[in-house]
This record gives sequence, structure tokens and C-alpha cells, in this order.
Amino acid sequence: MQTKIAFLLVLLLSGCNYSPDKNTKSHPRNDLIKTEGEMVAELTAPPNVPAPVGNRPAKKLKVELEIVERESELSDGVKYIFWTFGGSVPGSFIRGRVGDEVEFTLENHPDNKLPHNIDLHAVTGQGGGAEASFVAPGHKKTFTFKLINPGLYVYHCATAPVGMHIANGMYGLILVEPEGGLPPVDREYYVMQGDFYTKGNYGDPGLQPFDMQKAIAEHADYVVFNGKVGALTGDKALTAKVGETVRLFVGNGGPNIVSSFHVIGEVFDKVYVEGGDLINENIQTTLIPAGGAAIVDFRVEVPSTLILVDHSIFRAFNKGALGMLKVSGDRNDKVFSGEVLSGIYRPEGNVIQEISPSEPKPVRAVALSKAEKIKLGQQIYDRSCFACHQPDGQGLPNAFPPLAKADYLNEDVDRAIAAVIRGLSGEITVNGKKYHSVMPAQVLTDEETASVLTYIYNSWGNNGTEVTPEMVSKIRNSK
Ligand code: CU
Repeated sequence: MQTKIAFLLVLLLSGCNYSPDKNTKSHPRNDLIKTEGEMVAELTAPPNVPAPVGNRPAKKLKVELEIVERESELSDGVKYIFWTFGGSVPGSFIRGRVGDEVEFTLENHPDNKLPHNIDLHAVTGQGGGAEASFVAPGHKKTFTFKLINPGLYVYHCATAPVGMHIANGMYGLILVEPEGGLPPVDREYYVMQGDFYTKGNYGDPGLQPFDMQKAIAEHADYVVFNGKVGALTGDKALTAKVGETVRLFVGNGGPNIVSSFHVIGEVFDKVYVEGGDLINENIQTTLIPAGGAAIVDFRVEVPSTLILVDHSIFRAFNKGALGMLKVSGDRNDKVFSGEVLSGIYRPEGNVIQEISPSEPKPVRAVALSKAEKIKLGQQIYDRSCFACHQPDGQGLPNAFPPLAKADYLNEDVDRAIAAVIRGLSGEITVNGKKYHSVMPAQVLTDEETASVLTYIYNSWGNNGTEVTPEMVSKIRNSK
């Protein structure tokens, strides 16, 4: 009996052990914030975001969003019918502040085939607005809601089959800034991950229909940022200058895959965890759930090409979840020196590793044009080559030879083909400098090999050679 009383006492005491912190403060009554005047919301397509709210008072905020079903590219040469909010994947970025009263009009374009609606996670109310906004093609629906909770929120279509509508690209972000706005930064960008399910495999060309069985099994063919493989690479890379502060509004539309969001070559100074008030600092990788978001802030200190990835890493290098942020400006050798010393360290010996082969791919009936090869080749390069040879083919001093204006490459195309399909080891000399690195054999089809080499030969001041699958096949069968 006495132990029982003692136990109850402990329970009572621990129950009373609250400190007077955030957890016990009552939540602010943002539903009571008064509005002054009205404005039409600026909407932007990714990777852009509307202007910050700054110090403006809460207003009546008019949002007009049009649903468009349209064919576009999921990867170069791969077509897909996307269903979109505002014509882009992810949909238009919406930006308001706490206390705003949103008058939301959802328009379903008359050329569309299906009814749709919208569930905004920032909405307090039935279905996040889903029922109120359900709209047939050629119609529009208006409903209103008050932004009570600051944060970064996902919106998505919630029309059955919900998974299919999301899988086709029907998601985006709505930012609700706190009173006075978020702390200002130099650059803000909109990045949203999504997973896609196609009848064909990754990279199979042509119009690819949605595959419901793969979606149910959660076997994504593509995991991409901003709706397309390469949406944020090459000349579409995000940019910043040394010394600037960068803010990424990162969402994850899913429908299935949780993102391990990471930026190679950078540490997040601040993460607004799950897009809410909690700020974590000095973070390498932040989890972004499907149907969730995060805000990441960082200052860029040195010039480099930062690589945005889902660090569930096969998704980055094999399914498309890879973007770039190019930072230009002056070096700062105190922060990062680049290589200062190089030597050979090869405990596993000289054996060239081969990336294990998959099923042979069917040969295309019609040969690719030179321009098509260059397009496909760039994709393969971004996936398989650029980590060593670098985005502009400049290589890494003393480690990986340059491909740009490289005599080794331009003097002998057969030698270049052999290097790609068989790998390369031992000392070679490129533009007068010696290299000792090991290049693994690439498992690519003849067409892929021809394309990536054609891309390389037609970039960065090289001699413009066009490589054909027949030339590759000849070398492959030569011994
Ligand atoms: Cu829909």
C-alpha cells in the first residue's frame, strides 16, 4: 500500500514538472488578426518564389490558380502527361502571411479531362478545402480561409484516386510568413521532390503512361526535383555569389518516397524543421516527409557547384533526384584549399571495377540524330561522369583528367570509346600532365556510349566528332 502511494506521488510530482516555457504558453490567437485592404497574390513557377511579405499588414489575399493537364518531358526524350496547378510541376508557389484571409479560386481548364480539387495543408477546415474546391473541367470554385499557422505547407489534389493525382504532379507549396516576415536573405528558391511511376523503365523514350501497380508497390522509376530529370542542372542550375545567403523552400510531394535532402559541399546553417517554428542549426541532411516541407538557410563561402540530392543516393544518380547550385566568386583558401597534396593509394590493387551489368536494352529502330545524341549524352554525363570530370569537363587537378580541349580525347576516338566501355588504368598523359587514376568500365549500351561521347566531343571546345553505335560496337567486338 505504501509503495502504491509513493508511486502515485512520483507520478503526480513528475506530472507537475512543467517549466513555464513555450509548451505551456497558449498558442497565439491568429484567427483574431484583423485585415487591412486586399491584394492579388503573386504566383510563381519553380524555382522562383514571390516577393517576401515584409512588414505588410494582414490582408484579404486573392489567389487564382488554374489546373492544366499537359504533356511535357519527365526526362530528355521521355514524355509524360502531367496534371498541374498553374502549368508547372510543382505547382505555383503561393506566399502570404499569418492573418491573411485568402479568397481562393480554383479553375479547371475546359480542355482538361478530369475533375480535380485542392487540399492545402495550411488550411484549418474540412479536407483542407478539398470538398469546397472540387471542380469539373470548364468550371471554377471559390472558397475562403484564414492563415492561422505560420510555416511552409504542401498543397495537393485530393480527388480519387488521390495517389494517382499526386503522382501525376498535382502538388506545390504555400508559405505562410510570420508577423514581420522571415529574416531576409539574398536569394530564395523553390525546390520540390516528387516520385514518378512509368510503364517503361528509367530513360525509356517516348510517351510513358502512369503505372498504377508500380505506384502501389512504391517502385519509383523516377525521383526528381521540380518535375523533370535535369530541371536544375546545366544551364538551369540555381545560382549564387560567394558571401550571399541562400534560402531553399524544399517540399516533397511524394506520393510515396521520403526525402533525405542534402546539399553536397554545404552545411545548412539553419533548418526550419518540417517547415515549422523549430529551428535546428548546423545540419547535414534533413528528412522531408511525403506531404511535408522544410526551409533551409545557408551562406555560401566559396565558389563551387553545390549538388542538391536525395541522399538515399541511388535516387540521385540513377533516378534523377539531383540538382545544382552554382556559386561564383573569389576563392577563400582558408575555408577550402582545394587539393594541396596528391599521391597514389590503391589498397585494392589495379583491377578495374565494373559496375554490374543490367539487362541489355532494346536497340532503337531509328538512329538518333546528332542533336538527339548530344541531349541524351548530357543526361548520361550528368549521371555518370561529372562527379569525376566535373560539370564543365575541367577535371580535378592531379586526380581526374580534363575532357575539355583534351588531346588524349581529340586525337583518337577509338581510344576514347575503349576507355568508356573497358575502363582505364595506369599512367596516361593529358595535355602534358600525367594522371594515375582508375576509371571504372561504364555499363552503357552502344547507343548510350555513342551519345555520351558525342556530347563530350561537342562540348567545351572539343573537335565536334559524332560517335555512332556502330563505331562503339566495332571496338567492343575487337577483342
Ligand atoms: Cu487532381
